[in-house]
Amino acid sequence: MEPKYKRVIIKLSGEALAGDKGFGIDPATIAGICKNIKEAKDLGVEIAIVVGGGNIFRGRDGEGMDRATADYMGMLATVINALALQDALENIGVEVRVQTAIEMKEVAEPYIRRKAMRHLEKERIVIFASGTGNPFFSTDTTAALRAAEIDAEVIMSAKKVDAVYDSDPKLNPNAKKIDRLSYIDVLNKGLKVMDSTAISLCMDNNIPVLVFGLEQPENIVKVLCGENIGTIVEEVN
Ligand code: GTP
Repeated sequence: MEPKYKRVIIKLSGEALAGDKGFGIDPATIAGICKNIKEAKDLGVEIAIVVGGGNIFRGRDGEGMDRATADYMGMLATVINALALQDALENIGVEVRVQTAIEMKEVAEPYIRRKAMRHLEKERIVIFASGTGNPFFSTDTTAALRAAEIDAEVIMSAKKVDAVYDSDPKLNPNAKKIDRLSYIDVLNKGLKVMDSTAISLCMDNNIPVLVFGLEQPENIVKVLCGENIGTIVEEVN
């Protein structure tokens, strides 16, 4: 299989690591995802990963809490997930560097853009932890920001649902899958692909977002090779 892209950001939601448990980290699930990320890397693609933290703590769920404090807790959750991913990838022989936007030098490297790019050139997977390091910004926004910074061609957004639908497929059995969408449609229709800050950043920097389901982890390789299995959000003329 020939990959369509040279450098990508894979956005993994925290929930994706929890498997059916819905909370925490499921070792078999994370191993399955990492096996497929390795396959993708072995095709010669440079891969950076942005991971969420929703399987442990999500800032917007911090009911009654100060939002900034809750967001910092969410950022720390992403560090736990990044270390779990690092461990699972290293177990199968992949070289990994974790970089964190909140400095904790005993735990991981600080985020340094040029160093991250150098790691990628040396065929290492780079995992970006702690989101952007700022409260009020999501890990989707982190994916958009880092993609722009490191010149990634696309964001591969791995989700629990397999694509974007015109309504919630869990509530509406007639919900229609959408193959292709413009950024502005996502914003105007309020579709839950990414939050508006993240989509705006992708739109302004012309970074396509490939949304697909992680139920079958082999989807990562399929999407990288250009198979149209989910939804693509891009500039539509
Ligand atoms: P090259 O210089 O390109 O070969 O990259 P490298 O990452 O192998 O070199 P470096 O000597 O920077 O790092 C060696 C190891 O230390 C890697 O596992 C890094 O992730 C880790 N490392 C580097 N800087 C830090 C840091 O500030 N904190 C922590 N915890 N680890 C670091």
